[in-house]
Amino acid sequence: MKNLYLVFIFKLSLNNIWGEIQITKIENRSLPKEVSTEAVLLHPSNSQRIIGGYPVNIEQYPFVAFFMIILPGLGWNFRGGATIVGEYWGMTAAHCVQQIPDSYIKDKKAFLCGNTSHWKKGCNRHYIVRTYVHEKHKNSLGNEEYDYDIALVRIKNPFNGKFEKPIKWANSNDEYPDNAAVTVLGWGSTRRNAATHSDVLHAVTIRLVNHNVCKKKYRTGEVTNSMVCAIEKGKDACMYDSGGPLIRNNILIGIVSWGPEDCATDHLPGVYTKVSFFSDWLRRKMNNNPRSA
Ligand SMILES: *[C@@H]1O[C@H](CO)[C@@H](O)[C@H](O)[C@H]1NC(C)=O
Ligand SMILES: *[C@@H]1O[C@H](CO)[C@@H](O)[C@H](O)[C@H]1NC(C)=O
Repeated sequence: MKNLYLVFIFKLSLNNIWGEIQITKIENRSLPKEVSTEAVLLHPSNSQRIIGGYPVNIEQYPFVAFFMIILPGLGWNFRGGATIVGEYWGMTAAHCVQQIPDSYIKDKKAFLCGNTSHWKKGCNRHYIVRTYVHEKHKNSLGNEEYDYDIALVRIKNPFNGKFEKPIKWANSNDEYPDNAAVTVLGWGSTRRNAATHSDVLHAVTIRLVNHNVCKKKYRTGEVTNSMVCAIEKGKDACMYDSGGPLIRNNILIGIVSWGPEDCATDHLPGVYTKVSFFSDWLRRKMNNNPRSA
């Protein structure tokens, strides 16, 4: 079984006022299928943030940002991680942005946040002008099609905070050596199977998995050439880490995309969008859509 590392809430109408009942439904919906609410509550926190990671400061990783929307009656809603890749550009997973209605963007209810390690303590807000979801990405709600899980987000006011700096992304000819140590960053789940997030940015170091080995761990066709896998005992990305960066030697090489329903299962790798596969697409989108356009 697999699960996107993001809790979907957009299936329900966003135009309704969000009452208590709807919130319960959302929370319920977000839990992995085989895990009952009771089971989750009975499991005490058996791992740390991001699963097996450690807290870090934005000063060390100034390219990390996140994606927020304002929901009527609910206020700020954390929608996943993002990476600063240009003065006016953020990169994230397609499944983090594809459900955002245009009206949210128009009404300035969707933005990227940077310059902070502690997401609840405020941030530099960057309103979204437009999102560019990869043309070949299929709607991942309902069907299990997670291919081409990449999106660019163009913002209105530039990333120019003290701790808002773009990172370079992998080129098409960059290698992804088996077992190479890589780092994933995010504000994701603090516990396995729980749709909660961490207040403070966390990092964890894991290792790249050989592509064919990873393919065999999942069903045929699930792991594609636009994906890269990584694993480490007791360590993993988890829910709400979606869209955030996977880095190697200070280069963005992956985007948190999906993984086993239980995070950090130790035998099923986490799966990331392979950034090098999209380097031409990224360059084209950014060149064809300059700020003045
Ligand atoms: C969650 O959903 C299940 C099955 O649809 C239902 O039996 C259960 O009562 C729900 N729990 C909550 C907290 O809504
Ligand atoms: C960014 O964060 C730093 C450290 O918290 C702070 O000094 C600075 O004022 C913030 N804002 C900008 C725009 O850099």
